[in-house]
Amino acid sequence: MINVAILGLGTVGSGVAEVIEQNQNEIKKALGDNLHVKYILDIRDIPGVVNDINIIVNDPDIKVICETMGGKEPAYTYTHLALERGISVCTSNKELVDAYGVELSAIAREHHCSYLFEASVGGGIPLLRTIREACGQEKISQIAGILNGTCNYILTNMKAGKDFATALKEAQEKGFAERNPAADVEGHDTARKIAILASLVSGKKFSYEQVECEGITNITPEDFAQAEAKGMSIKLLGVYNAENSSVIVAPFLVKNSHPLYNVNDVFNGVMLHGNMVDNLMFYGRGAGKLPTASAVVSDVIECAKNIGKNINNKFADLAPANVNKFPAKNPGEKFRTL
Ligand code: HSE
Repeated sequence: MINVAILGLGTVGSGVAEVIEQNQNEIKKALGDNLHVKYILDIRDIPGVVNDINIIVNDPDIKVICETMGGKEPAYTYTHLALERGISVCTSNKELVDAYGVELSAIAREHHCSYLFEASVGGGIPLLRTIREACGQEKISQIAGILNGTCNYILTNMKAGKDFATALKEAQEKGFAERNPAADVEGHDTARKIAILASLVSGKKFSYEQVECEGITNITPEDFAQAEAKGMSIKLLGVYNAENSSVIVAPFLVKNSHPLYNVNDVFNGVMLHGNMVDNLMFYGRGAGKLPTASAVVSDVIECAKNIGKNINNKFADLAPANVNKFPAKNPGEKFRTL
């Protein structure tokens, strides 16, 4: 039996416990062993939940930790402590991966364990592992992605005539939105995700601060009407352009012939262009309890199969990227067109 701990009993953390419980037979087939949640840690006093990280990292039974707390602290300190003791950490925390992913990955390598973050980008889409393992032979020239489920939910509903505030409230009720929804609607969450993707494919560390970033708060019903009249939709995209080493988050006009046009509601869609494979399109639920938790558990299975070894997440050696300005909008236009 492989014993794991979950840090943070929020939407994703409780989802991880549920996936492990509900899909125990599938997990046993994939891993060849059972997964058992030995501890759940939360800063709140909840019966059956521990508050002290030392209980977890000092327990030699614990081989893998799921960090689903979000935010930088105490997630950074707890992850650091675990990795130094050779305990692998699987996370959905894009803020931490963006800010400290390189350092934490190097610590994991030094201590023969792993730091994996499949759930940090694209929710339930098996995206990072696919890029890491199946696209290594490709020279990726562009990534364009709908990477924030909350914004896509809001934009889909605004297009159908709902107002911004009502759509945001629904996204919050469904557990898609960040604790501070400004991180979603101002584009910061998408910026962290496109920075992680750009880093993974370029071999240089792009960080959130280097992403030109505009959110969805200035989009009006008239903008949707004008877009529709031209056979287009408005989507918040994160775009990485390898040719001039630039990254942007902004609302884009997307033509109805483009595969991202039909990516609606909480779904995310990511399109990569590789020089040999041509276009690849990934699609799935970008937020929500069980899809995101499923991605965390996929990492747990990978770590549990590799106890005592480091899984190369392609982050440990990244040097900072030189980032240029993204090509400008056409004069007089409110949005770029994909
Ligand atoms: N708030 C995020 C979103 C959660 O809506 O996409 C998943 O990262």
